[in-house]
Amino acid sequence: MDKFVIRGGNPLVGTVRVSGAKNAALPCMAAALLTDETVTLENIPDVRDIQTERKLLVAMGAEVELGYGRAHHRTVINCAKLEKPEATYDLVKTMRASTLVLGPLVARTGHARVSLPGGCAIGARPIDLHIKGLEKLGATITTEHGYVEARADRLKGGHIVFEKITVTGTEDLLMAAVLADGETVMENCAREPEVADLAALLSKMGAKIEGAGTSTIKVHGVAKLRGARHRIIPDRIEAGTFVIAAAMTGGDLIVSGCDPKHLGALTAKLQECGVKFTENGDSVRVMGDGPLRCADVSTEEYPGFPTDMQAQFMALATQVDGTSVVTENIFENRFMHAQEMVRMGANIRIEGRRAIVRGKTPLSAAAVLASDLRASASLVLAALVADGETIIDRVYHIDRGYERIEEKLKGVGAQMRRIGEMLPRKAPLAQQA
Ligand code: EPZ
Repeated sequence: MDKFVIRGGNPLVGTVRVSGAKNAALPCMAAALLTDETVTLENIPDVRDIQTERKLLVAMGAEVELGYGRAHHRTVINCAKLEKPEATYDLVKTMRASTLVLGPLVARTGHARVSLPGGCAIGARPIDLHIKGLEKLGATITTEHGYVEARADRLKGGHIVFEKITVTGTEDLLMAAVLADGETVMENCAREPEVADLAALLSKMGAKIEGAGTSTIKVHGVAKLRGARHRIIPDRIEAGTFVIAAAMTGGDLIVSGCDPKHLGALTAKLQECGVKFTENGDSVRVMGDGPLRCADVSTEEYPGFPTDMQAQFMALATQVDGTSVVTENIFENRFMHAQEMVRMGANIRIEGRRAIVRGKTPLSAAAVLASDLRASASLVLAALVADGETIIDRVYHIDRGYERIEEKLKGVGAQMRRIGEMLPRKAPLAQQA
């Protein structure tokens, strides 16, 4: 298992480019299941979850080309032949977003068999709201042997009110509703930019959607969808991670290829901490020089402060003057990174869904363990300011959602390298006999 070795102390200076959004690319790839024509997606991030999504679609019978070289970051998907509308446990257990195929599969083929995702490091994360929504659209649902099975000759338009705002729940049911017979109204929807990006692709495929990006979405079902070409939006969480890296290291960094609009809640909070910003088209310049001060933050659904930036903000809070209270409202167990930062010398106390972070505390390098995608990003940030060489284990978590992060950070001055598990030493010839 790869590890990162990071020597802290260097301010990040220069320009770092953001990749496409993993959380927009995944639902957009699943949307290709809705048509027998070709869907081409540009600006696809080269991260492990995209590889998993590709395996998922290919296992169903789809043709999926992931571009390399000049075609890097492009994927061409054709789901004309869907022999096996099934998402197996092997794949779903490695990536819960695999459940995003449930709605499009039952809408297109009338049948879907998807493994239930099981527990996750950051919380229970059930998909009950996905299932309830499909039942509202007339699907017959059975759950047995760890799989949910959905059947419908043709889904029927219906009225869905989400008990809780759910991002992939909104996306899954949006993809189901576009081929349903009649009108669907969905209320209390997620307003994340990734939902609007999926709707933009679906509209190019011929879907009739109103209100995507707001809490009420109306869909007029159509009989058939066509192929399309679509460019995925930039990754606002990757951009936010680099913004905080610059602020923590006292750097002067241009984060390019992003959409500053999508960073609203984050930049507002960081300005409260004293971080200086200028926005220019698709880039944000962050100047982290000068003392930073504490601020409280509570995670909320978009456009509130994103839970996917909570861990990174906690790392920053260890380096500002004063006490910051970080409240996690979305997931019930998303403070795994705190104890690893305490191992580096941070002063953090957890009280239920609140973390009380006393700053500024000098961090010292240590061996630490990544537990999930964003937790691992926060440990990279802590290591960038720690005294000495930090070793972060299990970086496969970070590879799920960050494209070649060590190369990008090295490009702006970080001292960082990846060390891979030495290939298993071949037994000397004699022993091989
Ligand atoms: C999406 O997960 C993102 N993943 C997550 O990013 C992100 O943290 C999350 O939204 C919140 O912003 C993708 O887009 C692939 P939810 P999702 O359904 O859709 C509860 C990352 O780091 N809930 O909005 O799975 C749920 O338990 C990942 O890139 C139900 O109770 O999250 C949670 O408490 C991590 N029943 C809350 O709703 C359901 O059926 C919000 O979850 C669905 C959700």
